[in-house]
Amino acid sequence: MIKRADELALMAESGRLLAQVFAFLDRQSLVGMSTMQVNDLVERYIVDELAARPASKGQYGYAYALNASRNQVVCHGVPSSTEILQSGDIVNLDITLEKNGYIADSSKTYLVGEVAPGAKRLVKVTYEAMWKGIRAVRPGARLGDIGHAIERHASRHGYSIVREYCGHGIGREMHEAPQVLHWGRPQTGLVLREGMTFTIEPMLNQGRRAVRTEDDGWTVVTVDGQLSAQFEHTVAVTRSGFRVLTLRPGETMPA
Ligand code: CO
Ligand code: CO
Repeated sequence: MIKRADELALMAESGRLLAQVFAFLDRQSLVGMSTMQVNDLVERYIVDELAARPASKGQYGYAYALNASRNQVVCHGVPSSTEILQSGDIVNLDITLEKNGYIADSSKTYLVGEVAPGAKRLVKVTYEAMWKGIRAVRPGARLGDIGHAIERHASRHGYSIVREYCGHGIGREMHEAPQVLHWGRPQTGLVLREGMTFTIEPMLNQGRRAVRTEDDGWTVVTVDGQLSAQFEHTVAVTRSGFRVLTLRPGETMPA
């Protein structure tokens, strides 16, 4: 669970490359693109431009470079050539990248074209909630402190938190110990130590927190059909706090 300095350097490199994928996506206009086109663009960028590997390909039998989770899809949305992104949609793009044996994992919910204020607000609060969790990371803090900070911010704004999926340790494997829950009580759970690496990736729902998996066995949606948003970063516990390994160029912590 604790990474050596040389391992952390490799993870930081994977994180830096993954951040570049999002910077590349930021430059695209997603309106009118199919989620499969987005997937293909991302895969080519990772392989051809970054000389890296989309880590989700082949993992758990999955065939694609990303998950595209649109509107009421909570997570694990599968790219499709018939799913066209329309102005007004929100879509989470969740991508993992492996370089030199180490994996980084990050996601961002994009606003497609002109998005209604209510949806924008959900996306903004979800992003803030992720950062509330990240800010709680330091040696001696506990996993419950992260979950509590996220939960508090979500509930303060009237949103619910999905409980079926959580953050995770990461390194040579995409999913390592520990599980990082996005709710919890302060001063409970595993004590954080310098050199731990894990993701923080809260999913916030506009309505109720209940989710179900569709018949394809992948796509997870809200039961009530309301919107869901998510953001994810890979972080390392440092001597004095945290380092966001997947921080994007120009990205700063919200106030
Ligand atoms: Co992810
Ligand atoms: Co993850």
